[in-house]
Amino acid sequence: MRRLIEAAEIQQRVTELGRQITADYRGRPLTVIGVLTGSLVLVSDLIRTIELPVRVGMIRASSYAGRTTTGNAVSIDLNLLPDVRARDVLIVDDVFDSGRTLTALVERLQTCDAASVRTAVLLWKERPRETEWTPDYFGFRIPDVFVVGYGLDYNDEHRSLPYVAALDPVEL
Ligand code: IMP
Ligand code: MG
Repeated sequence: MRRLIEAAEIQQRVTELGRQITADYRGRPLTVIGVLTGSLVLVSDLIRTIELPVRVGMIRASSYAGRTTTGNAVSIDLNLLPDVRARDVLIVDDVFDSGRTLTALVERLQTCDAASVRTAVLLWKERPRETEWTPDYFGFRIPDVFVVGYGLDYNDEHRSLPYVAALDPVEL
């Protein structure tokens, strides 16, 4: 494993994102919707840096199974979604890779009569995106490598690392 982003850098950047989000929404209440399971750590840190009335909900989306990030269909489970009608919604995910997951989620949430839908991710990979959307807020651009830590997993492991590390292809 090769460390890419240290814990202290992440904390500093998340605090900056919280400040930016606080300023952008100008006191309006915000509904933060985390995408399970990878966004868990970011959601818990980010909501403590946002100085707005915040509600938190979670949804599940999967565009990949196991080791790779391939797969065309995005399955979305809205069972844990709170009522977002007329609310400003910020969807939070761990990483923007191909962009398929966040695009599918934004399009789905827009059918729930939210007042607005924006997206925030910790990581945005430097690779050609496959969709028209890009994240509204992001922590770091990273090379197109497979990473774990700070919520991101490989076969459901390594989520609890406080830093982000790249896995070597031989480890995959
Ligand atoms: P996208 O739909 O291609 O943008 O993929 C986004 C989803 O794929 C994320 O929510 C992650 O769950 C997963 N993913 C993409 N890249 C990585 C990675 O490097 N490590 C772990 N999970 C990843
Ligand atoms: Mg995910």
